[in-house]
Amino acid sequence: MINIGIIGYGYWGPNLVRNFAELSRAKVAAVADLDPKRLELVARRFPNVKTTTNWQDLIRDPKIDAIAIATPVNTHFELGMAVLKSGKHLWLEKPMTESASQAQKLVDEADKRKLVLHVDHTFIYTGAVRKMAELVRSGDLGRVYYYDSIRINLGLFQRDVNVISDLGVHDFAILDYILGEHPTAVSASGINHFPGTPENLAYITLFYESGTIAHINVSWLAPVKVRQILIGGSKKMISYDDLQPSEKVKVYDKGISFTDDPKQIHEMRVGYRTGDMWAPKLIGTEALKLEGEQFVDAIVNSKSTECDGRLGHRVVELIEAATSSMRGKGETVYVQNTRRKAS
Ligand SMILES: NC(=O)c1ccc[n+]([C@@H]2O[C@H](COP(=O)([O-])OP(=O)(O)OC[C@H]3O[C@@H](n4cnc5c(N)ncnc54)[C@H](O)[C@@H]3O)[C@@H](O)[C@H]2O)c1
Repeated sequence: MINIGIIGYGYWGPNLVRNFAELSRAKVAAVADLDPKRLELVARRFPNVKTTTNWQDLIRDPKIDAIAIATPVNTHFELGMAVLKSGKHLWLEKPMTESASQAQKLVDEADKRKLVLHVDHTFIYTGAVRKMAELVRSGDLGRVYYYDSIRINLGLFQRDVNVISDLGVHDFAILDYILGEHPTAVSASGINHFPGTPENLAYITLFYESGTIAHINVSWLAPVKVRQILIGGSKKMISYDDLQPSEKVKVYDKGISFTDDPKQIHEMRVGYRTGDMWAPKLIGTEALKLEGEQFVDAIVNSKSTECDGRLGHRVVELIEAATSSMRGKGETVYVQNTRRKAS
């Protein structure tokens, strides 16, 4: 049985507590939040769970094996480092840290102490994203030409992070997981419509060595909520609409081919293929449950999760690169290939 402590019981923390409480091999031992009113909610719902306004109580508790941090990003590095230095395994909410150098320090500390460092990019554990990854990795889609994402709504304006860090982060993690490739360059444009606040709208383009191009539109200022991704491959294409109650992922047997008949080549003959469309069955397990099980399994068997600190670090690197490009009015920012370096 792995005893878990959770720091931060705001919007996301309750989802972690509920999911950890339901795992057969884990127990929620304690919850910390600066706000006593949030802790009253814990006590009412989970009367056996200890509560405290001092997060250090969790660090000092020898019975706690692992700590999950669901506080604002500007606290992640300090709290995460304290957790690792106390010899406990760490679950960190996305985005992992404010800077890539902080993320690298946490990865190094976890490596040094042989501790599990997991970053919660929940989308990676959804049935839809796992199915899309399966289709890409099996070669069913063929060569991936493009990834096109729209993630917009009248969103909660954040004070401490921009829209790339809040919403683009999901696409960066999904792309990393699906393609298994880190972009070589990033270009982004964006704007803050309200002086003194972080950028609320951005258009991000990622360039990959393999030839794949990805485009992501994120915004907190749209009249409608859209969560749509298209992935175009040389053999098939995918449409993923996360707001659909069912059949979120659709696979289209559509594409084009250019004739290789030398007599027709000067006419640029294009053949269009429009075959079947089908909606594959997706696993229905709640993403956080699957993710929690993988975290506990990694602790028990001394291995890493699919969403380890290295993936978290690569995502923060892209947030930094995209933000820097956006502030340079779309100038190209080259990204070092941390995936290759790490392996
Ligand atoms: N995985 C996901 O899909 C997902 C979804 C939403 C939020 N998040 C992430 O979860 C984290 C928290 O976001 P949120 O929306 O829940 O924020 P929130 O502001 O609603 O809650 C944060 C809570 O942390 C508490 N807190 C802050 N500093 C603390 C400290 N030093 N010790 C103890 N408690 C402290 C606050 O009192 C608050 O209750 C962020 O990193 C966010 O990006 C992830």
